[in-house]
Amino acid sequence: MIKKRKNELNTQSVLSMKGSGYYSQKTAGAKNAIDSIQDLVNVSVSDLPKTEFLRFADYGSADGGTSQEFWFRFVKKIRENGDSRPIEILYTDLASNDFTTLFKTMQGLGEKRDFAYQKIFGNVFVHGCGTGFHQQLLSNETLSMGFSATAMHYVSEKPCHIQKHVHMVGANPQERKEFEDQAAKDWEAILLARAKELSVGGRFFCMNFGIDEQGRYLGNTGGHSMFDKFNEHWLSHFKEGLISEEEYISATFAQHYRTVEEFCYPFKNKESAVSKAGLRLLSCKTKLTKCPYKNFFENNTDKMTPLEYAKSFIPTTRSWSETVFKTALSRRKSEEAEELVDSFYKKYMDQVIENPKGHSMDYIHIIMEIEKT
Ligand SMILES: C[S@@+](CC[C@H](N)C(=O)[O-])C[C@H]1O[C@@H](n2cnc3c(N)ncnc32)[C@H](O)[C@@H]1O
Repeated sequence: MIKKRKNELNTQSVLSMKGSGYYSQKTAGAKNAIDSIQDLVNVSVSDLPKTEFLRFADYGSADGGTSQEFWFRFVKKIRENGDSRPIEILYTDLASNDFTTLFKTMQGLGEKRDFAYQKIFGNVFVHGCGTGFHQQLLSNETLSMGFSATAMHYVSEKPCHIQKHVHMVGANPQERKEFEDQAAKDWEAILLARAKELSVGGRFFCMNFGIDEQGRYLGNTGGHSMFDKFNEHWLSHFKEGLISEEEYISATFAQHYRTVEEFCYPFKNKESAVSKAGLRLLSCKTKLTKCPYKNFFENNTDKMTPLEYAKSFIPTTRSWSETVFKTALSRRKSEEAEELVDSFYKKYMDQVIENPKGHSMDYIHIIMEIEKT
């Protein structure tokens, strides 16, 4: 059994997305999911706190590409409403995040110039913060609206390695309990930090990966389970002697998919720390966003080959998962690790080419609107 070593379980420096814009270019589904809650968020424009200036935060923004249009439309709505207050937008992520791409994108030096709101609207200021969202990141009561998409399933620390799978969805009951406990502590810390940051009347909108009422989660909505596929191919690397047992086991995602109940728990009781800090849950719902790559393939089966489908589908899984496998190989030379990771994704790709049926990455989100009272 591989013993946990504190420094290997600390995830903060290693789990960021693939850089240089790769993340947002290959992650159309995450953008679709964000765009789908635009109306819900835009409605709050007229209820923004009556502060001298407006401050917003995007927690776990990655390279900012997937939420750029969302923020453009939100700022546009504010200006159309006749609100000309200065606007500050703080992008937060881990220190290892690709903030260079993010700042270029917002300044209109990237691909989507039509949404470079920092240039398009006046009196709008873009800032970055490289400290994790489990802590307070802004001064007390200075945040008008917080937003986070597809990020808070990352736990601050892996409580253990999962011995026979790569993700907590395949953990044994004891491992699962350790992840649940860690995620509960983290969720409370996240909420208490936002409670301090938010101005009274401010809102926090978050859409997180989780497990819905039907037991569905990312890449597991019928058909093959994507995480089982990751495990199958990583295990086959081990069985073929390409990687060691330690490398197999340490590829454990630092993620926990909370159930709706786990997400809502801190709000259930008026005496809880979160309720006492002034947070109130206004709504919570689950949502499936179809895998856009699978959708496109299904609508174009006459024009698209399984190879073409696999070439669009595998990169969307790779954009956020690659660092987990690379980190498990961190004792190797980087070229060697690169080759092993390439051959791992190639195995998955070959399987999809052979029979694409049932391979997809539908998103399941738990969407919450929270108010600071
Ligand atoms: C899957 S990406 C989502 C990016 C973007 N919000 C979206 O919806 O497309 C998750 C992001 O959360 C970031 N992240 C993970 N743990 C974090 C933490 N503790 N604090 C801040 N960001 C974190 C990762 O680095 C990554 O950029």
